[in-house]
Amino acid sequence: MPETYDIGLGNNNSHLRQEADSDFVSFWDSQARNLSWFSLWTKTLDWNPPFARWFVGGTLNASYNALDIHQASKSAKTAILWEGEDGQSRNITYGELFIQVQKFANVLKSLGVQRGDRVTIYLPMVPELPIAMLACARIGATHTVIFSGFSAASIRDRVSDSQSKVIVTADGGYRRGQIINLKSMVDDAIKSLDFVNHVIVLERAKNKISMTPKDKLWGQLMADVSDLCNAEELPSDHPLYILYTSGTTGKPKGVLHGTGGYLTHLYSTFKWAFDIKDSDIFFCTADIGWVTGHSYVVYAPLLCGATQVMYEGAPDFPDVSRMWQILQKYQVTIFYTTPTAIRLFMKFGAEIPNSFDLSYLRLLGTVGEPINPEVWRWYFKIIGKERCPIIDTWWQTETGGMLISPLPGLETVSLKPGSAGHPIPGINIGIVDENGNDVPANTKGYLVVKNPWPGMLLSLWDDDEKYKTTYWSKYDGCYYSGDYAMRDDDGYLWLLGRADDVLNVAGHRIGTAELESCIVSHPSVVESAACGIPDDVKGETIIIFAVLRQGILGGTKLEQELTDKIRTDIGAIATPKHIYFVPKLPKTRSGKIMRRLLKAIGTNEEIGDTSTLEDGSAVTQVQHAFDEVHRRTK
Ligand code: WTA
Repeated sequence: MPETYDIGLGNNNSHLRQEADSDFVSFWDSQARNLSWFSLWTKTLDWNPPFARWFVGGTLNASYNALDIHQASKSAKTAILWEGEDGQSRNITYGELFIQVQKFANVLKSLGVQRGDRVTIYLPMVPELPIAMLACARIGATHTVIFSGFSAASIRDRVSDSQSKVIVTADGGYRRGQIINLKSMVDDAIKSLDFVNHVIVLERAKNKISMTPKDKLWGQLMADVSDLCNAEELPSDHPLYILYTSGTTGKPKGVLHGTGGYLTHLYSTFKWAFDIKDSDIFFCTADIGWVTGHSYVVYAPLLCGATQVMYEGAPDFPDVSRMWQILQKYQVTIFYTTPTAIRLFMKFGAEIPNSFDLSYLRLLGTVGEPINPEVWRWYFKIIGKERCPIIDTWWQTETGGMLISPLPGLETVSLKPGSAGHPIPGINIGIVDENGNDVPANTKGYLVVKNPWPGMLLSLWDDDEKYKTTYWSKYDGCYYSGDYAMRDDDGYLWLLGRADDVLNVAGHRIGTAELESCIVSHPSVVESAACGIPDDVKGETIIIFAVLRQGILGGTKLEQELTDKIRTDIGAIATPKHIYFVPKLPKTRSGKIMRRLLKAIGTNEEIGDTSTLEDGSAVTQVQHAFDEVHRRTK
């Protein structure tokens, strides 16, 4: 008998599955009616492959759906219970959030921001971050949030690509007790970007910053504006945001999301996956700089009028009990986090969570990486006391919201540790081989999506061609996810990691091409290859092999210099564990680097078949360089 856990929360709406199976378009049509529209659509789906436009002719506003609709009944209800890393806390009601968003929308307008303009937001996890996003949405500006761990060079690339004329940042943000000077990072980033007219600076850390003529203080701007600003009536496909994500090329892609389809997807999945009730206290640990934060910290909980905890800092600061303290303090009922975080908690043992009162929990979620069955069981037993279903949600920046997940808000769930379960209603998932044919059960293949769905990206910002080639050219008419998966005999889906050259480090996507182009732009390096090796906590960690210019000798000093370069050019999240200097890289006869071999060396595994190698000695040399480093560091 397979190990399964059946949990019912009293919901019996699986008839929605039949409705979705018989006609996914009219199914999503009825779901979209849960939102507030200024005018209804004339066509539910315009599918001009690979471009999908949902609810054509309908008009709405994301900020209106997140705030205005709750004012009559919930203005005194808490929207955000904010916990600062330094122990400060704030309780923000739907009424207060509504006022702040309207005021900031007026600030943006006063600085000349108009419908269709882009605004870059580079803020720590403070309530002003969702306020700024919702203010953009309110006036029809497209926000582009950059994770506060990215470096000045990464900000510059993203601001230039999106041509944002206004940037919102802070004097600093707290991370592991340190103040990160976000403002100076923005100063460096925009030095040569003349089109940036204004930088709005939130005073969060009150540390010393230098002000330039472009800079304006958040507090001062907010003091001078009215707290009334009507939400713009926007077409359903109006671009709500751009979020940059790593792919297989050196340049991050600007994933572009619309409004009506995206919000419909979030509203429905939030209810189905988390069974959200008015009394729940929801806590998603994702940073808003990533898609999970956009979808399930900012938009979904607010659309549903939920109360949520928002935490500013690191999960293990000042120690690994911090999360449990927060759960206990706010009596959290739904907790949504990552396998990386769970593995970290697990490493420190059950005694720590066991010493807190976590009895309010009723659902546990996970996202971002495959969760190993052993970690799943620990989460289920130790944190959820075998009462709470584990909601393992598979999705991507591009999909906007969950596509595969158990849905206890809809039906009784039957869970298998390590499997994300089944597709959500209205989503047609396929697992196919190299030629696009469905693979049999229990066979690994590529995960594709065979129908358009409402949360689907509109395109890549300013690059329809790249959108087509990246996602829609591998298999005709199917969305290519870049992930491996398998379906078992019972129809459960098992996610098996990335199939492309994208690494998943602690749930963050980092392209090998991005790392490699950073390293080779150093004058000492001619060629490089990055790969991921398994890590107990982070899932995967980065190692890099670099070939140096003739006459240059590698050593710890150069390794440090290259590591620093990665931190400066990309950000601390991309810090490699090791850089190995090698005379040449193993390549196929057609010149493709054989990453598989590098990975095998990095993990001390069998090298396997090397018959396609152009020069067999490359492997020996890489192995030698690897052994040499580890002999030295032992
Ligand atoms: C991985 C995060 C296994 C996957 C929402 C995907 C997962 C990438 C899961 C997207 C899961 C996400 N199980 N793998 N439940 N959720 N992934 O764009 O490889 O930051 O392609 O979106 O994370 O990462 P992204």
